[in-house]
Amino acid sequence: MKLAVIGATGLVGQVILEVLSERNLGITELIPVASDRSVGKTIVFKDQTLRVRSIQDALSVRPTMAIFSAGGTTSKKWAPEFAEMGTIVIDNSSAWRMDPDKKLIVPEINGHILTDQDRIIANPNCSTIQMVVALHQLHERYRLDRLVISTYQSVSGTGAAAVQQLFEERSGRHELKVYPHPIDLNCLPHGGDFLPNGYTTEEMKLVHETRKIFDAPDIDITATVVRVPVVGGHSESVNATFHQSFDMKEVMEVLRSTPGVALVDDPSSNQYPMPIHAHHRDEVYVGRVRRDESHPSGLNLWIVADNLRKGAATNAVQIAECLLK
Ligand code: A2P
Repeated sequence: MKLAVIGATGLVGQVILEVLSERNLGITELIPVASDRSVGKTIVFKDQTLRVRSIQDALSVRPTMAIFSAGGTTSKKWAPEFAEMGTIVIDNSSAWRMDPDKKLIVPEINGHILTDQDRIIANPNCSTIQMVVALHQLHERYRLDRLVISTYQSVSGTGAAAVQQLFEERSGRHELKVYPHPIDLNCLPHGGDFLPNGYTTEEMKLVHETRKIFDAPDIDITATVVRVPVVGGHSESVNATFHQSFDMKEVMEVLRSTPGVALVDDPSSNQYPMPIHAHHRDEVYVGRVRRDESHPSGLNLWIVADNLRKGAATNAVQIAECLLK
């Protein structure tokens, strides 16, 4: 089992290596790949020191699997070349997510649709993953009708340079402009690029990806994505309306037994999910669960997860595990 990690020096790539080192996928050779400027540098995986290789070099090794996390352009160009060679590609970028011929997978929800014919498999956006993990069993039970989402997304979701901007601003420097405005002591209602419909690309990912994963094109979804001065961990306020009415005690039971979810919801002792508790964890934390008093079948939830772990690296590695099974 030769496994290539494309983008191994990046924020997500580093976490992929961390998750791989914690799990046993039976890797016989790990091939770290980055851009030409990093070729020849070394990285540490488990107790081995490995040399970073070029993508062309990795292709010639014909890996069994390749996890891509080097941006959409690299995925668009190279994933088909690896697939052609028989490599199974798991892609973290948005390049293939909405391609009708490619599957968009969150293992707890639709891992069962994978077959040994799949060659390029898409990993959803971080905000989508944590929300669908939290909601999938409720959806199965009561059928989602509509979702109104507001996200509070950390800067690590944008990349290493955004984290640097936040810390530079904290030390009084304002030259680095990954965002069009200061991010420290601020909130930006702007994730990705603006589209003609007034939404942003990050907002529309929540709409389209959720419908695809649930195989439910009729769910009405509207989202506002906000970038907040938090380094790691995305939070989401979700108002869900269901077709069927529900009992709150039963809702709590469903959430407690949902795979991948940790329910943290005890307002009397100030217990609710927060990004600082999600760091380096794979669980999706759910709390502030309460009936929406303005709607007969509405529910409010607060959902938090480590965007680099379950939101990206862990989900990709779990897809690999699913395929190996
Ligand atoms: P490098 O470190 O050499 O730039 P991030 O999203 O955190 O910036 O990480 C992006 C990752 O993708 C990095 O590992 C980066 O390598 C890698 N990368 C960027 N462009 C390419 C490319 N053309 N081929 C392979 N890896 C790339």
